[in-house]
Amino acid sequence: MNETRDAVICSTERPRRFYDCTLNEKLLYTAFLLLVGIAYLMALTYLYTEYEGIDGKPGLSLEDIAENYYGNRSGTRLEAALRGPMAGYIETEQRHHVVEWLKSGASKSDYGNRIEPILTERCVVCHSTASGLKIPDLSSYERIKQVSNVDTGVSLHSLMKVSHIHLFGIALVALGIGLVFRFALLPHWFQHTLTLLPFVAIFTDIAAWFLTKWDPFYAYTVVSAGGLLGLAWAMQIVISLYQIWFLPQRAQVRCSVAQQSGNHE
Ligand code: HEC
Repeated sequence: MNETRDAVICSTERPRRFYDCTLNEKLLYTAFLLLVGIAYLMALTYLYTEYEGIDGKPGLSLEDIAENYYGNRSGTRLEAALRGPMAGYIETEQRHHVVEWLKSGASKSDYGNRIEPILTERCVVCHSTASGLKIPDLSSYERIKQVSNVDTGVSLHSLMKVSHIHLFGIALVALGIGLVFRFALLPHWFQHTLTLLPFVAIFTDIAAWFLTKWDPFYAYTVVSAGGLLGLAWAMQIVISLYQIWFLPQRAQVRCSVAQQSGNHE
């Protein structure tokens, strides 16, 4: 039986696998998967540093997630920002002063004496109308009042902004990884499930952001769906990288046409 002829017939009759790819394709897929893997790890680190400590305790917890979306209805947005995403812009000592001021009722007289200089030094560069950013204006007592009332979590406007950016971005990344992963040789049901999983996970995750804004209970869903996305991508990437470089074409992998012609001979 002629091996080369079989191979030619087979590649047109059965789906392509990694061992059918040229070296150039293999290099392209490997480089892409490695970069996406690194980007994912960086995103995880970023998420950790961005959201840890929102609830005032070190480390990332469900409470941090719940508080980010639902808010801490017993605290203020300003305090939540100072403990969370804005923590890097202020000294611990100064933050202490501001939080104390907030807790003691955020009076105007104390604002002028102690708080205004801190905020002017640390925050007003970005948080004023002059910066052109669509973020709370912290340049006067009246304006600050808007964020020193009860914290109801990230605004719907921000949520919408972050959601659509994530949906577009992640859909494209999932498509890229999925396009490579389709060359893997796996049981059909498993490959189909794993291909769809990242899309389902990201949809669930983002839906859960909105649900958590409504009820902090859904912070569990945010974390589980995020974990599922990571797991699905890790599996697609590891399986693909393994099969690109280590899965040889097995002798029994022949298309039906070749087998039939083989049987007749
Ligand atoms: C380098 C620019 C910059 C500086 C300095 C800065 N912020 Fe921000 N701040 C931002 C941006 C950008 C956002 C919007 C972030 C987002 O939507 O995730 C924001 C958001 C916020 C919010 C709104 C959070 C919410 O609930 O949506 C508060 C409150 C806040 N900052 C307070 C502060 C305070 C207090 C300081 C000073 C200690 C400070 N920021 C310093 C850029 C800055």
